Amino acid sequence: MKKVFVMGGTGFVGARVCAQLLQQGWQVTVPTRKAPPAPPAAGVALLELDVHDEAALTRALRGHDALVNLVAILHGTQALFEHVHVRLVEKLARACFAAGVRQVVHVSAIGANAQQPLSAPSMYLRSKGQGEAALLRAAGLSDPSAFELTILRPSVIFGAQDKFLNVFASLQKALPVMPLAGASAKFQPIWVEDVASAVLRSLAREPAAATRAPLILQACGPDVFTLRELVQLAGRLSGVRGGRGRPVIALPNWLARLQATLMELLPGEPVMSRDNLDSMKLDNVATGALPGLETLGIQATALPAIACAYLGVKQAV
Ligand SMILES: NC(=O)c1ccc[n+]([C@@H]2O[C@H](COP(=O)([O-])OP(=O)(O)OC[C@H]3O[C@@H](n4cnc5c(N)ncnc54)[C@H](OP(=O)(O)O)[C@@H]3O)[C@@H](O)[C@H]2O)c1
Repeated sequence: MKKVFVMGGTGFVGARVCAQLLQQGWQVTVPTRKAPPAPPAAGVALLELDVHDEAALTRALRGHDALVNLVAILHGTQALFEHVHVRLVEKLARACFAAGVRQVVHVSAIGANAQQPLSAPSMYLRSKGQGEAALLRAAGLSDPSAFELTILRPSVIFGAQDKFLNVFASLQKALPVMPLAGASAKFQPIWVEDVASAVLRSLAREPAAATRAPLILQACGPDVFTLRELVQLAGRLSGVRGGRGRPVIALPNWLARLQATLMELLPGEPVMSRDNLDSMKLDNVATGALPGLETLGIQATALPAIACAYLGVKQAV
């Protein structure tokens, strides 16, 4: 039985990746900073580990055939983004070499640019691009122990446990109107099960042994929505105001930045940070410059029918 090490396997996407891996007969190890009361999927081996400790990471990786990296943060300082999205990725690349792991699937984000990472508009995207660049350098080495690399760049991901449509639905249950930053930003949402399938098919791909060329794929759904449309859809599907949702008020940039600054001051994860606003300066959609999930034989699933099933109201849209 093949063994895979899923970093970030306790998260939203990680739980579905683990579930699909187990179904396909993989043996799955998930390192975590603090073990949750239950594993992300029954059958996963949870391992409390400081993944930033390279020696410990290398030891833990021994005996694994593949590594999937889903570790990421959405908010933080420049230093924290670099710590998690760049330094950790450099460490895991070295650890894979040292431990003999032959396949790496790295989940990045649409808008990351490995060629010119610093051209991206936000700390999140710049650090994601730098992390990709580090992996591409490692995978491109003409060393026989170099690993085969697939990088997936998803747009926003939806699914029963998402913190996206679920948050917009909850806010509309609590607020009389929806003041919205970045209302005209475009997204091409992808279902979490399609992302998980893409991870599995990346692990199954048989590259030409002579080239072992890294593959970078944009992971986007079939439809493009503005953020305003997605918020309205979340309101409708969750039955707010008899299925009409709350009125959405698009905030001008200066007010959006003020709102984000205030949200960053509140305890807990902000719903929107200034860095998130910066990320939305780029549309979160496939550019056409890179292949999509069809390369892996995946037809991405449309959002409304799936979101309808978990947001609450079972009705056609
Ligand atoms: N969700 C989306 O809409 C979306 C969109 C585009 C791209 N992506 C990408 O998809 C991947 C998975 O996203 P997700 O939504 O599943 O994320 P998530 O639910 O926030 O999970 C992230 C995981 O990273 C680990 N982690 C967080 N901070 C860490 C740190 N400082 N050091 C070590 N580990 C840390 C956590 O593991 P422990 O707490 O167990 O240690 C957690 O399981 C990420 O690369 C993300 O950038 C997501």
